[in-house]
Amino acid sequence: MSIPIIRTLADLRKTVAAWRHEGLRIAVVPTMGALHEGHLSLVRAALERADRVIVTLFVNPKQFNNAADLAAYPRTEHEDAAKLAPLGAHVLYAPHSFEMYPDGFATTVSVGGVSEGLCGAYRPGHFDGVATVVAKLFLQTGADLAFFGEKDFQQLHVVRRMSRDLDLTIELIACPTVREEDGLAMSSRNARLSPSQRRAAPKLAEIVFETAERLAAGAAADDLFRGARKAILSAGYREVEYLELRADDDLSPLATAEKPARLLVAAWMGDVRLIDNVSVRPKRGLTRFFASTAV
Ligand code: PAF
Repeated sequence: MSIPIIRTLADLRKTVAAWRHEGLRIAVVPTMGALHEGHLSLVRAALERADRVIVTLFVNPKQFNNAADLAAYPRTEHEDAAKLAPLGAHVLYAPHSFEMYPDGFATTVSVGGVSEGLCGAYRPGHFDGVATVVAKLFLQTGADLAFFGEKDFQQLHVVRRMSRDLDLTIELIACPTVREEDGLAMSSRNARLSPSQRRAAPKLAEIVFETAERLAAGAAADDLFRGARKAILSAGYREVEYLELRADDDLSPLATAEKPARLLVAAWMGDVRLIDNVSVRPKRGLTRFFASTAV
């Protein structure tokens, strides 16, 4: 069993036009490859809601603010295609880079507001790169639905804002973060952790969940964050870039969880940057990661 791989926009358009002719509902799952269970959960969710699912695979140079990070990003197209085929995804669109950024390409989609702070503060240009490539992927595929993971929570907000502002009719579906059994949020970057770093890494999720529980119980963010940052560093992380409480709906900063909120973190384990976030629901409390989303 194999999945058809499409490399050119002309071929993609032909395929999509034929599907449209049959009146089929089309979903897109944008990825940069190195697929793990988190991506596969998006594909499964897409297959439930659409007649045809296009998975895109493009390591987008415009969203890397660091050349070493781009060079180190895992490229595993063969394995990715082998993971997608048994699920029943219909097409892997892995365009040549000139299809995405032909000579003379000079357009940037830049989203304000929700792209500021958090990752936006530490990765200049990152969200412009994301918004630009995602806008292109939406337009190229002409999909009705698009699936994104909550793991990249700020990215989700950026893509949602862009879609609203540009009157794109594609429906965005957010899917929960998938975690390893020890709680570590699945990420293509986890593969770059050494064995000892991999053993230490889940502590981040543990601390974030504990902190979120206290926030849900009414504690003030500032009081908790000093201790939480120390605990993350003691667990073996070399730097905490941010640990912040933000409103779920518009990412505005919060001092307490007086409304539905997210606790978001970015920290460096050696030279690997990991991000995570959990929902903080003051009234109903939190669902522990091992109870609901471990695979
Ligand atoms: O989340 C990702 O993998 C990327 O940011 C995306 C959405 C595929 C855009 O390159």
